[in-house]
Amino acid sequence: MDREIKLAPSILAADFMKLEEQIGECEKNGAQYLHYDVMDGMFVPSLSFGLPVLSSIRKGTKMFIDCHLMIVEPNRYVDEFIQAGADSVTIHYEACREKGCMDVLKRIKDRGAGCGISVKPATPLVHILPYLGIVDMVLLMSVEPGFGGQPFIESTYEKLDQLRSLRKEGGFDFDIEVDGGITLGNVKSVIDAGANVIVSGSSVFKGNVGENVKSFFGIFGDGSALE
Ligand code: DX5
Ligand code: ZN
Repeated sequence: MDREIKLAPSILAADFMKLEEQIGECEKNGAQYLHYDVMDGMFVPSLSFGLPVLSSIRKGTKMFIDCHLMIVEPNRYVDEFIQAGADSVTIHYEACREKGCMDVLKRIKDRGAGCGISVKPATPLVHILPYLGIVDMVLLMSVEPGFGGQPFIESTYEKLDQLRSLRKEGGFDFDIEVDGGITLGNVKSVIDAGANVIVSGSSVFKGNVGENVKSFFGIFGDGSALE
C-alpha cells in the first residue's frame, strides 16, 4: 500500500516576526502538516511555546497541526492542546510515568485527535511495542530532542527498518514520522527507509520558505512512499 508523503514544517525554526506569512508560504506550496514543538525546560533543556500561540495559529491556518509534546507527564496537558487546535498529539515514551503511556494515548484518541508516540534516538523500539496497535503515528527522533539545526543521526535508518518490519509483521497501520536534521540532501534516503511524514525546521525556514517547500516536494516525486 502506498502512503502519502507529508511535509511537516517545524515552526521552531520560523522567524516569529513573520510567522503568519511563513506559515502561509508552507500552506500555499502544499505542506500538509504544521509541526508544533512544545518544550517544557524539564524533559528537554529548552522552552519553546505553548497554548496561546497554538490558539492563534489555529485561527490562521487549515493545515493539520501535528503537536509534538516534549514535556514530562503529558497527561496533564493533552486536553488543553486539543482544545487549542491540535489535530494530533504525539507524546514521548520517556516522558510518561511508570504506568506507561497507554492511558494518555487513549485519552488523546477519545478526544478525537490523532495520537502518536515518540522515542529519543537511544530508546530501543521494544519499549513502544505495547502501543503500536493504538497509535496513528510513530515519531522517531533523529536528533536529541530540544534544539533545531542539529545533524541527522545515521542510526535512525536502522530503526526505520525495524519499525517498518514491526508494522508489517503486526499488521499495524501507523504513519512513520522522522524529526531532526532532515535536509534536501538526505530526505530521499529517509523516505526510502520507510518514513512518510517528514519534519523539517531549518531546511524549510532558512532562506526562501516557499522555494524550500517546493524543493522538498520536487524530491518527493509522485508523493507516495511504499510500505
Ligand atoms: C527538535 C524538534 C524538531 C526541530 C527540527 O527537538 O523536535 O522538530 O524543530 O529542526 P531541524 O529540522 O532544524 O533539525
Ligand atoms: Zn519535533
